[in-house]
Amino acid sequence: PRPRVWVSQPLYADLEARLDEWFEVARTPRVTDHAPGAIAAALADADGALVTLNDRIGETEVAGASRLRAVANVGVGYDNLDVAALAARGIVATNTPGVLTETTADFGFALMMAAARRITEAEHWLRDGRWQGWGFHELLGAEIHGSTLGILGMGRIGQGIARRARGFGMRVLYHNRHRLPEAVEEACAATWTTRAALLADSDHLVLVLPYTADNHHIIDAGALAAMKPTATLTNIARGGLVDEGALAEALQSGRLAAAGLDVFEGEPAVDPRLLACRNVVLTPHVASASLPTRRAMVALAVDNLVAAMGFGPDAGHPPSPVTRIP
Ligand code: GLV
Ligand code: GLV
Repeated sequence: PRPRVWVSQPLYADLEARLDEWFEVARTPRVTDHAPGAIAAALADADGALVTLNDRIGETEVAGASRLRAVANVGVGYDNLDVAALAARGIVATNTPGVLTETTADFGFALMMAAARRITEAEHWLRDGRWQGWGFHELLGAEIHGSTLGILGMGRIGQGIARRARGFGMRVLYHNRHRLPEAVEEACAATWTTRAALLADSDHLVLVLPYTADNHHIIDAGALAAMKPTATLTNIARGGLVDEGALAEALQSGRLAAAGLDVFEGEPAVDPRLLACRNVVLTPHVASASLPTRRAMVALAVDNLVAAMGFGPDAGHPPSPVTRIP
């Protein structure tokens, strides 16, 4: 019998069709927030799975999945997977780096600019009927050109944002555990600095680092207090990086000028303290949301799953398209 794979969400039928060449495919007809136990039940007789960031897969979900060999995540971040629990059972896990880099960098830059120049706040002001003649003193924002951009987490997306910043004449600082090779630093005109200096010197700080147990609330009250009161904070990585209560407090008290948030700790729930702040731009985790990019993510995840299960043109070799999670 052919191996069985489970597709946790409806994606793109034409791209998913490639799975039918090799597998019995169990599909999910509607976008689904799987109830507790439902993922475990779906994985119980699956040899492989194509999942998204909505699907948490840990020890509980794989405990009864004796045949499961591969989990392909549609997404570059994979904090929804307990990678150690999967690895302990020899289950290969893959993600989709590379294909969403530029689209996500575009959005990160846009969100930073929207926060700095108060674009959504200005629109609300206009829609609320508060525009009574040119508001000379209203809605003054922070400069972008000539300012200092700080990037925390300098992977592919961080480097994409740094390249964009050049066009705006920004100075770019970054912090990463590992300093980039000099040639890469030169290509994106970015300078490594300590985390403390990054917090203190950035006019606009953008978070683009993977979320792990080690960097939970890396931006907490102390970090926010170390930033300039005129600075902005943009998060397109994962909500758990930021202490949202401390951020709301800093935004309300004027301790921080503005923020742009695409990700939230309890998403899709958004902390009411943030909803109450005027000076934060809030978007529903859409940084990679363009049709070509979402299609490229699915295509890569499908290739990953096929290859990780030992099929496709690369069967038998370390299959080249597999972007395995280390
Ligand atoms: C989206 O957040 C992703 O990790 O791809
Ligand atoms: C994701 O692709 C990253 O490395 O930033």
